[in-house]
Amino acid sequence: MAGFKTLDDIGAVSGKRVLVRVDLNVPVADGKVTDATRIERIAPTIAELSKKGAKVILLAHFGRPKDGPSAEFSLEPIARATADVLGRPVGFAADCIGAKAAEAVAAMKDGDVLLLENTRFHKAEEKNEPAFTEQLAANGDIYVNDAFSAAHRAHASTEGLAHLLPAYAGRTMQAELDALEKGLGDPVRPVVAIVGGAKVSTKIDLLMNLVKKVDALVIGGGMANTFLAARGTAVGKSLCEHDLAGTAKQIMIEAAEAGCAIILPADGVVAKEFKAGAPSEIVAISDVPADGMILDVGAKTVQSVSDWIDRAATLVWNGPLGAFEIEPFDRATVAAAKHAAARTKQGKLVSVAGGGDTVAALNHAGVAGDFTYVSTAGGAFLEWMEGKPLPGVEVLKR
Ligand code: 3PG
Ligand code: MG
Repeated sequence: MAGFKTLDDIGAVSGKRVLVRVDLNVPVADGKVTDATRIERIAPTIAELSKKGAKVILLAHFGRPKDGPSAEFSLEPIARATADVLGRPVGFAADCIGAKAAEAVAAMKDGDVLLLENTRFHKAEEKNEPAFTEQLAANGDIYVNDAFSAAHRAHASTEGLAHLLPAYAGRTMQAELDALEKGLGDPVRPVVAIVGGAKVSTKIDLLMNLVKKVDALVIGGGMANTFLAARGTAVGKSLCEHDLAGTAKQIMIEAAEAGCAIILPADGVVAKEFKAGAPSEIVAISDVPADGMILDVGAKTVQSVSDWIDRAATLVWNGPLGAFEIEPFDRATVAAAKHAAARTKQGKLVSVAGGGDTVAALNHAGVAGDFTYVSTAGGAFLEWMEGKPLPGVEVLKR
C-alpha cells in the first residue's frame, strides 16, 4: 500500500513482542458484547502475527473512564469476548504498564495473545505524555496500529508509540485506508455523498468539505429540515436548527460555486407524533402541515436518490435518511441502502459507508455486507469526511 508501512514490510516477527493498538470499544449490555464487529475486524492482524510466532500484545481503551481503574471500564470481560471471536486463548493483564504488564508479557510464549487493561485508566494516555508512552513501549519491540476508529485521537497508544517503536499499519487499518482513498481521496467520478442524521450543527465542517469534493450531495434526516427552512420551506414541528439557517445557506452557496448539486427532499413522510407505527402520510415538501413532523423522506425523494446512485461511480454515505430506528420511518434509508448495495454487487458502484448510526442503519437494511466497505469508525470517519488529518494515521506515513 502506497504511503504506509504494513505487515508486508514488517519482516521476521518470531519471538518479538508486537504491541498492537486495537479498538475494543464495543457496545456492551448486561456484561455481554452486543456487537462484535470491531473484534471480528482485528482478527486477521492478530492471526497473522501470531502465526508468524510473534507475542501479540493488545492495547486498547474502553469507554471514557474519568477517575482511574474501575470494574465498569475494565477490559477483562472483553478479553473473554475476544477469545471467543478468535477461537483461541487471550491472556489478560490488570494494568497496561508497570509490573503487572511486564510479568504477563514475560510469561508469553511465541504466538500467544495478551490483552492489557484499559489504557485510559492512566490520565497520561489521553495527554500523550512521553514518560507514559515509554512505559508502554517497554513491553514491545514493534508497534502495529489496527485501530483506525481511534486514529482521530493523538493519545499515547494511538500516536505516541509510533515515534518510539518501528510502526506499521495493521490489516484493518490498511483496508480502511484503502477504502477511504477510493471513497474521497482519489475516487472514480461522479462521486455522490449521502449525509443524514439529526443535526447540521455536528456536521458543518463535514458538509463544507464535501461540497468541494463530491459532484452531488444528498441531504436527508433531521438535518435536511434546517436546509429546507433556510430556503424558506415551512417544516412544521420537525426537528430543525433554525439558528443555523445562515450556515445552511453558506453551504448551499459554496456548493453552487464548486459545482456540487445539493439534493434536498422533494417530499416527506409526516406524522403528528414520533413513535412506532404513528399514523403518517407522504406530502410534497411544500405541504408540510404546521402540526406535522417530517420523519423520513418520501417516495419521490427515494427515486431521486436512486437515480443519483445510478449516475454515480462512487458513493460515500454517512447518516440515515429518516428516523430509521422506528418503523415505518426506516423505509427510505432501507430502500436507498438496498439500491446502493445492488449497484455495488453489479460492479457499477464503489460504496463506502461509516460513522455512528450508519452501520446500524445498513445492518437494519440487511446490506452492510454488500457495500464495498463499511467502516466501524464513528468520530474518526467523520473527521476523515471533514478532510482533517488523523494523528494516528499521519504518524504511520512513511
Ligand atoms: C469510538 O468508539 O469512536 C472510538 O473507540 C473512539 O472512542 P472515543 O470517542 O472515546 O475516543
Ligand atoms: Mg467516539
